[in-house]
Order: sequence, then structure tokens, then C-alpha cells
Amino acid sequence: MKARVGVVGAGTYGSVLINAYYGAHRRGEIELAAIADINPDTLKAMDEKYGLKGYTDYREMFDKEKLDAVAVVTPDFLHEEVVLEAARRKLHIIVQKPLSTDIGEGRHMIEAAKENRVMLYVDFHKRFDPAHIQLRNAIKSGKLGEIEYGYVCMEDKILVPSQWFKNWAQNSSPAWFIGIHFYDLIYWLLGEKPVRVYSSGVKKKLVSMGIDTYDSLQSKFEFANGASITVDASWILPNSFSSIVNQQIRLVGTEVFRR
Ligand SMILES: NC(=O)c1ccc[n+]([C@@H]2O[C@H](COP(=O)([O-])OP(=O)(O)OC[C@H]3O[C@@H](n4cnc5c(N)ncnc54)[C@H](O)[C@@H]3O)[C@@H](O)[C@H]2O)c1
Repeated sequence: MKARVGVVGAGTYGSVLINAYYGAHRRGEIELAAIADINPDTLKAMDEKYGLKGYTDYREMFDKEKLDAVAVVTPDFLHEEVVLEAARRKLHIIVQKPLSTDIGEGRHMIEAAKENRVMLYVDFHKRFDPAHIQLRNAIKSGKLGEIEYGYVCMEDKILVPSQWFKNWAQNSSPAWFIGIHFYDLIYWLLGEKPVRVYSSGVKKKLVSMGIDTYDSLQSKFEFANGASITVDASWILPNSFSSIVNQQIRLVGTEVFRR
């Protein structure tokens, strides 16, 4: 049986997911039933492109579409309401990172998914990058020995918070929007949570542009065996930078990696 899937939020990233789901629909892997977005113009554009039924109220979509699963692609700080409603209706859920920008809200969502026995998956797609899978396998098989330290950066051009998300960048941060990808990836690669985290950030450039959030956050994660990994997350790279995003991970272990 094919899963009937709906999407809530058809903005910058929602439209990427809808395009991918539409491909899966055409290949007969899922049934992309409908989408919901509060913006009628967005729904009109999606209808013109994919012939998809649209709802301005996601609850109405849940009422009418007999969905099995839903993808939640609303802004970072607006996931909870949709996720709780979906869980209440026994829909399986894939939600964009970060699950939430509030720990309490995150816990509510996890509890609701458990209570209603539905899957709640946060879309940490860095776990599916072949280079990261190779790195994880190398760590797990002991080819790098014991990881001692490492460095990660993930940085967006300033057009992301100042133009793409200028309405809600102040409700997020480079940690929630970008850093979270690698905070999760480190956990997934090493298979353990840090015992201590230090973090500091700078608010300057975006505040000067009227957007009250951090420009950058520098964090250090320490693990039980003494290893530590530093993560720089920022979204103020100049718009002249050659790509939207710049990212890097390097880990140093006690052994030399040989294939
Ligand atoms: N995995 C990734 O690499 C990746 C990349 C970009 C964004 N994201 C995540 O995707 C989420 C959405 O980001 P975006 O870039 O698409 O933002 P966006 O602002 O471009 O789009 C959000 C959309 O949600 C709609 N919306 C808001 N409230 C709604 C509601 N109650 N019901 C229905 N629709 C509603 C808005 O009208 C808008 O179309 C964020 O959590 C973001 O962090 C993930």
C-alpha cells in the first residue's frame, strides 16, 4: 500500500521537498495527496506547477485527505502546533530541523508521538551524505583509532537571514538553522552525546540591519574520553561568496586512515 502524504509549508525548502515527493509520486512510490500553506499565492504556484490540491488551513487538509503521513516544513519556531495536531490524528511525521527552538516544545512533540504511537522523524539529511556515511564507517571500524579532536564549520551567505527569512530569522539563529545539522552529525558519527558544551556568539551585523539574532555561534563539545570538537555556525558570509553555503568537517584520530 502506498502512503498518502501531505506537506505543510511550501516555502523555500517545502518547495524542494514537494518537488522530490512529486517525483516519488510519479514513480508510484508514494501518493502525494495535497499541500497546505497559509499563503494562497504559494498554493496557486504549486497547483500550476504540479496540479496539487492546496489548503490554507492544514487542519482542513488533515480532515479531508485521509493522510498516512505529513511533512512539516514551516519556519523553525512554528513546528509544534502542526506536529501536535498531526500526532493527535495518528499521522506519521517528518519534521524539518530543528525539531524546535524551545526544549519544552520539543519534549511535547516527542511525548505526543509516543502517546499516539506515530513516527516522528527530524530530517537530518547530513546523515545520508555518502562522505559522512564513509566517515562513520571508518570511525565504527576503528580505522581512525580514537577520535581526539575535530573542527566543523557551516556558514550561509547573509542573504539567507536578511532576504530569504527576513520575517522569521529573529526567531531562529545560526545554531538552530544551520549548526543543528552538524551538532546532530557529530552525535551520529561518534555514537555518543557530549558531557559538556560551551558556546558563545556574536550579535552585530544582523542587529545593525534590524534583525535581532546572532550572526555567529562558536561551540565546543567535550566527550567523556576527553575528545573535543569545535563547531562554528554562522549566516553572515558576504553575498559575493561563491556558494550559498560553506561547510567542512575534519576529525583527527589516533590512527592514520587507510582504505
Ligand atoms: N534540511 C535542510 O537543509 C533545510 C534547508 C532549508 C530550510 N529547512 C527548514 O525548513 C523549514 C522551513 O524553512 P523554509 O526555508 O522553507 O522557510 P520559508 O519561510 O521559505 O517557508 C515557510 C512556509 O511555511 C508557511 N507557513 C507558515 N506557517 C504556516 C502554517 N501555520 N500552516 C501552513 N503553512 C505555514 C509559510 O507561508 C511559508 O510558505 C525550517 O524549519 C527550516 O529550518 C531545512
